[in-house]
Amino acid sequence: MYLKRLKITNFRNYSSQIIEPDKFFNIFSGSNAQGKTNILESIFIACTGKSFRTARETEIINWQKEFSYINCQFETNSRQVEVRVELRPGKKKIEVNGVLARGYPQGWPGIVLFKPEDLILVKGSPQDRRRFLDLEFGPFHPQYGHFLGLYNRVLFQRNNLLREIKDKSAKNDSLRVWNEQLCRYGARLLSMRMDLFKNLSPLIRKIHYDLTGEKEVLDIRYLSSIKIKSPSSEEEIYNQFIKEIQEIEEEEIKRSQSLIGPHRDDFNLYIDNKDARIYGSQGQQRTIVLTLKISQILQWYQEIGEYPILLLDDVLFELDENRRQALLDRVSGLVQTFVTSTDENRIRPKMKFTVKKFIISAGKVVDTKEE
Ligand SMILES: Nc1ncnc2c1ncn2[C@@H]1O[C@H](COP(=O)(O)OP(=O)(O)OP(=O)(O)O)[C@@H](O)[C@H]1O
Ligand SMILES: [Mg+2]
Repeated sequence: MYLKRLKITNFRNYSSQIIEPDKFFNIFSGSNAQGKTNILESIFIACTGKSFRTARETEIINWQKEFSYINCQFETNSRQVEVRVELRPGKKKIEVNGVLARGYPQGWPGIVLFKPEDLILVKGSPQDRRRFLDLEFGPFHPQYGHFLGLYNRVLFQRNNLLREIKDKSAKNDSLRVWNEQLCRYGARLLSMRMDLFKNLSPLIRKIHYDLTGEKEVLDIRYLSSIKIKSPSSEEEIYNQFIKEIQEIEEEEIKRSQSLIGPHRDDFNLYIDNKDARIYGSQGQQRTIVLTLKISQILQWYQEIGEYPILLLDDVLFELDENRRQALLDRVSGLVQTFVTSTDENRIRPKMKFTVKKFIISAGKVVDTKEE
């Protein structure tokens, strides 16, 4: 799938701009604060219905204006898709091929974004990694989002109940039904995550090995707060979960918190058997994130039969030349890619295909070159 035409109106520092990207490789270059990331943001919104920068969408509307539009024409193997987003203070309307889109189909049209903050995937907290699992990998499993929603609802209610039991306004017995539900949905989620990791591990290892010129072996390992053996069936996970949850009941009441389950899990990344969070260099950590993003692209292709769009905001030129070239070789001619850079002259990637370059200044494309 690729973006054929983009038009943004009153979008952040742009008043009106049309962009007709190259089918494969596009570079937005310009000084700081000119509007490079803003363009990536508009493409991301058209693909997901949401911004990656803010939850307060009113911020996106140009300061001098009352509304903002994004119009995107995408082309897939089989059809044309036109997405139109209209933002007004406190209001958002999305139309796909002229039809009002209710509940954006998650992750479609496909897009994978790599931004500098994504390094927290390696360095950040377990919560950051779980977010990634839930939002970026989970959607590859058709029912993941559904069960995650159910699990989180039960978790919320169970935590409330634990607090009430502590305050003596509810009885211990009332926990039983919530335990049962938490463990059911939790076992389902865990079993989906196990499946995901089973598919991902060899893929990730291969991608990383290639990106590093066959030098580094990357391992991803799931860390469960419940003692489960791998492989385990959903029923085995359930049995173990319910057993452990009963053992820690007192502690959970004391702390008014559900202490075990998928919401407390994490995953670790190892390069040549060394924990990358502790020992990985900046460049190694960046390469790991890149590996995870490429694995998303390939998974997307496996599921949908189309490559998603790739956005690289200020990350490509922070990689050394070998790793950068390995990435470009991997995506070029397959994945429509948009990159940003502040230094036009640094960009001389060896590409088999043409590259379209947009020079951005003060909310305008002031020059376009094809090379
Ligand atoms: N709602 C808005 N209305 C007008 N201008 C805005 C709005 N929101 C953000 N801006 C401005 O858009 C400008 C460009 O932002 P953007 O993040 O795209 O820059 P950039 O080219 O990616 O810069 P950098 O190289 O520093 O990442 C900023 O100076 C910001 O003040
Ligand atoms: Mg930027």
